[in-house]
Amino acid sequence: MRVGTVALVGAGPGDPGLVTVRGLELLRRADVVVYDRLVDPRLLEEAPRARRVFAGKASGHHALPQERITALLITHARRGRRVVRLKGGDPFVFGRGGEEALALARARIPFEIVPGVSAAVAVPAYAGIPVTHRGIASSFAVVAGHEDACKRESGVDWARLATAVDTLVVLMGLKALPGITRALIEHGRSPATPVALVRWGTTDLQETITGRLGDIAAKAERARIEPPVVAVIGDVVALRARLLWFDEQRLPVGAAQ
Ligand SMILES: C[S@@+](CC[C@H](N)C(=O)[O-])C[C@H]1O[C@@H](n2cnc3c(N)ncnc32)[C@H](O)[C@@H]1O
Repeated sequence: MRVGTVALVGAGPGDPGLVTVRGLELLRRADVVVYDRLVDPRLLEEAPRARRVFAGKASGHHALPQERITALLITHARRGRRVVRLKGGDPFVFGRGGEEALALARARIPFEIVPGVSAAVAVPAYAGIPVTHRGIASSFAVVAGHEDACKRESGVDWARLATAVDTLVVLMGLKALPGITRALIEHGRSPATPVALVRWGTTDLQETITGRLGDIAAKAERARIEPPVVAVIGDVVALRARLLWFDEQRLPVGAAQ
């Protein structure tokens, strides 16, 4: 039997219209789709013939352990199937796509990577925040802010990041927000730096809380905001006041924060 293929496809950040043409093409002819939690169900309708396998995780609870996911991809491909591994945003941006691709390479399964629109840039964009802007920000960094993000061994050097880049985009950083904001201020970032927390960006549920580095953690706690959230830290956040577009399409004039 001829071996099948696996495509690691970026589904985009939520709005199904943000999937790529190549991603859609592969979905439409997939035999199996293994998908994550943040993938919009409307994208799955593009693969009506395919067997659908949920592999996502909710708040730390894995539906399928990573090794099982990888084994599943390999098994289906070895049975000659066209497998789409549909992942939120971009598969290589905090998506463990690299690990899955390495396993496929080791198993000699032909694979393809279809980049996706990452939440790191799309969610700020839908909130009216350009991550770079001439005269305001000429650099940005995308950082994972896991719960242990402020521990030394977390791998994120907050001390250096605090002043090294203009805009910081933090994914998965909600729980650790008090520690992250404290570390950034301690290492030289002004407490007056504008910050936006954008929840369920690019979807009908999108909501945004804005504040300053010095008060955003308390605001987030008061609002009891839940993941998924992208935090944008930097002066570009102030542009939101003039660049609101998505919120304005959905809310009565003046209701967006
Ligand atoms: C495991 S990471 C995956 C990122 C993904 N590979 C990407 O490129 O967008 C998941 C995190 O991305 C962020 N995220 C993804 N989609 C989001 C959305 N629609 N709104 C807000 N945050 C989102 C959240 O911080 C969430 O915890």
